Amino acid sequence: YLNYLTPKKRAEILELLVNGLKRLEYRGYDSAGVAVDAADDKDIAIIKRAGKVALLEAEIKNRSNELSMSNTIETHCGIAHTRWATHGVPNEVNCHPLRSDPHNGFVLVHNGIITNYKEIKAFLQKKGYKFESETDTEVIVKLIHHFYLQHPSYSFRELVESVVQQLEGAYALCFKSKFFPGECVGTRRGSPLLVGIKTATRLATDHVPILYGKEHRPYGRGDYPTLPRTGSTSEFEPLEDKQVEYFFASDASAIIEHTNRVIYFEDDDVAAVKNGSLSIHRIRRGGDDPHKREITTLKMELQQIMKGNYDFFMQKEIFEQPESVINTMRGRVNFETGSVTLGGIKDYIPEIKRCRRLMLIGCGTSYHSAIATRQLLEELTELPVMVELASDFLDRTTPVFRDDVCFFISQSGETADTLMALRYCKQRGALIVGITNTVGSSICRESHCGVHINAGPEIGVASTKAYTSQFISLVMFALVMSEDRLSQRTRREKIIDGLRTLQEQIRQVLKLDDKVKVLAEDLYKKKSLLIMGRGYNFATCLEGALKVKELTYMHSEGIMAGELKHGPLALVDESMPVMMIIMRDPVYVKCMNALQQVTAREGKPIIICEEGDKETMSYANKSLEIPKTVDCLQGILTVIPMQLLSFHIAVLKGCNVDCPRNLAKSVTVE
Ligand code: F6R
Repeated sequence: YLNYLTPKKRAEILELLVNGLKRLEYRGYDSAGVAVDAADDKDIAIIKRAGKVALLEAEIKNRSNELSMSNTIETHCGIAHTRWATHGVPNEVNCHPLRSDPHNGFVLVHNGIITNYKEIKAFLQKKGYKFESETDTEVIVKLIHHFYLQHPSYSFRELVESVVQQLEGAYALCFKSKFFPGECVGTRRGSPLLVGIKTATRLATDHVPILYGKEHRPYGRGDYPTLPRTGSTSEFEPLEDKQVEYFFASDASAIIEHTNRVIYFEDDDVAAVKNGSLSIHRIRRGGDDPHKREITTLKMELQQIMKGNYDFFMQKEIFEQPESVINTMRGRVNFETGSVTLGGIKDYIPEIKRCRRLMLIGCGTSYHSAIATRQLLEELTELPVMVELASDFLDRTTPVFRDDVCFFISQSGETADTLMALRYCKQRGALIVGITNTVGSSICRESHCGVHINAGPEIGVASTKAYTSQFISLVMFALVMSEDRLSQRTRREKIIDGLRTLQEQIRQVLKLDDKVKVLAEDLYKKKSLLIMGRGYNFATCLEGALKVKELTYMHSEGIMAGELKHGPLALVDESMPVMMIIMRDPVYVKCMNALQQVTAREGKPIIICEEGDKETMSYANKSLEIPKTVDCLQGILTVIPMQLLSFHIAVLKGCNVDCPRNLAKSVTVE
C-alpha cells in the first residue's frame, strides 16, 4: 500500500492494511504481519503474530506508542501479509514480512514457493548472512540486500530485477526498503499480483506503458555474479499523479473498498512506485511483447472476488486443481532428469526401505487417498502396505512394531482420530510420517518427518483439491522409493510422464462441467446413487460416494465391482441410478463383466470411460469421456467429474455447498 493522496495518520494506514488482510484471510490464516515506517520515519517497524489477523490487530493496538499513532504522514509505504505456510511452521519468526538484516534494510512479503532456496541460502551464508527463519522467502530479502551492497547505484526496481532472475519456483513479491523510503516494488511469476489505483481526480489514462530493458544472459543455478543493469536507463514515469494511492495485492478483495481501478500484472512484470508514479518494467523477450497494461474497472462484489468468479469455495477449489497439483510437485519432481526429491523425508528413506511394512492411516477423503495409491506403493516399494481408517485402527488396538513406518494423512493435520492413531504408533516405536496440508499442525509437529502437500488453504468443508494433492504426494513417495530400481525404470518414466501432462489433462476434464451439470439434473431427485469400479479406480467410487453423501444428503455407495455378485447386485434394477468407472487398464475385462451383470438386470449405467472408447460407451445410458493417463494416475482424473457431480446436485437441491449440515472442516473430537 502506498499513499500520496492526502496526509494520513499512521493509525489509519495500519487499519487499512489490517482490513486488507482480513479480506485476504481466506487465502491463508496461520499467521499475519505488517511493516510500516516507525515513528521516527528512519526505521521500519515490523509487527507479526502467529494465528488469525485479529491477533495481529490486537498486537498493533498494544504497540501504538512505538508507532506514534498521532503522526500525520505525507507519503507512506506499508506492506502486510497473511500466511499459509509452505516452509517453516507458522510462528512469528517465519511470518512475513521477513527482513534482510536486524536493521530492516529491506522487508518483503511473498506468496508462493522458491524451489532453489537452499542453493541461494548456501551462497548467502558464505557471504556471512545469518538466517533467522526456516522459510524459503528469507533468501530473497537477503539476496536483495547483498545486491544493494554490491551495486549502490542501482534503483530499487533494478535490484528487484536482479534478484528475481536468480529465483526458481513461483512467487508474488512486494518489497519495501529503508534505503528507498516511500517506494515499493512488486513482481510476480506464477502467483497472482495486481495493483489498485485510487486518485483524487479522474485518471487521465486507461493504461500504463511497459518499459523494456536490455536482454541479457540468465545466469546458471547457484551462480550469483555481479549482474549487469537490466533496465532501460530512462526513468520514464508513465502514470504520474502526485495525488494517488496504490494498493498492491494478491487479489482484488483486499482493495475493492478503496478503488475498483486495477492492473493485473503478468508473469515477470516488475512494477515500481516512486514519488507517486507507477512504472511497469519487463526485460525484452520477443517481438510480440505487449506495450502497455490496461487499467481495468472492476464491477465485482467482494464475495465474488474472494470466490474468484465462482459461487462457492468448493467450486473454486475444484477448478484450482490444475494449479494445486503443480504446487504439490513443484521443486520435487524434476521432469528433465526423472528424479523425485521429497526434502521432508529424504534423510529417512534408507530407514523406510528397511521397514517391515508401510501403514497408511487417515479418515474420510484422506483415507481414500491411501486406498487410491496402495497398489502403486505395493508395486514400487515391494513392501506390504496396510491401509487403515484411524478410528477402526484404534478400536482394534492393532499390533504395531518398531520397524513399521506409519503414514498419517490429513488435510487439516488436526483430525482427532488420526492424531490419536499417530500417538499410538509413536508409543510403539514406529517411524511416523505426516502427509498434511497444514504446516505446524499437530500431526506435522508430532511426526518424525513428512510431506507438505502444498495444495493451499481449503475452505469448502468437502475436501477436493487436498485429495488430488495427497494422491500425488503418495505417488511421489512411491517414485522416491523406487529410484534406484533398474527393473522399475520404464514404469517410473511412464508415471513421471503422466505427472508432466496431468495439469493439462485436469483442465480437459474440467471442461466436462456442463455435461456433468446435465447429469446432475437427471439425478438430483433420485434417492440413491451406486458408483462402481475396481483396481486403480475403486478409490474414486468411495470418494465420489462420500462427496455425494456429504454434499447432497442423498444415499450413495461406492462399490467394488468384483463384489457385485456377492450382494450389491440385488439393488440393481431399471430405476436404480448406477455409475461405473471403466478404463482400459488391467481390470478392463473384469469391469466389462460387471457392466454386463448390471445391464442384464436392466440397469442403465452412466459410464466414465476413456476418451474415444466407443465400444464401452455403446453399453452406456450416458457417458463421460476422460483423457487417458498411466493407470495409477487415472484416479486423479476420474475423481474430478465426481466432485463436479456432487457439487451440481447439491446446488440443484439447494444444499449448503461450502458448509454441509452436521459437518466441520476440522474434526477435533473422537
Ligand atoms: C470429506 C472430508 C472428510 C475429511 C476427514 C479427514 O470431504 O473432508 O472426510 O477428509 O474429516 O480430515 P483431515 O484430512 O483434515 O484429517
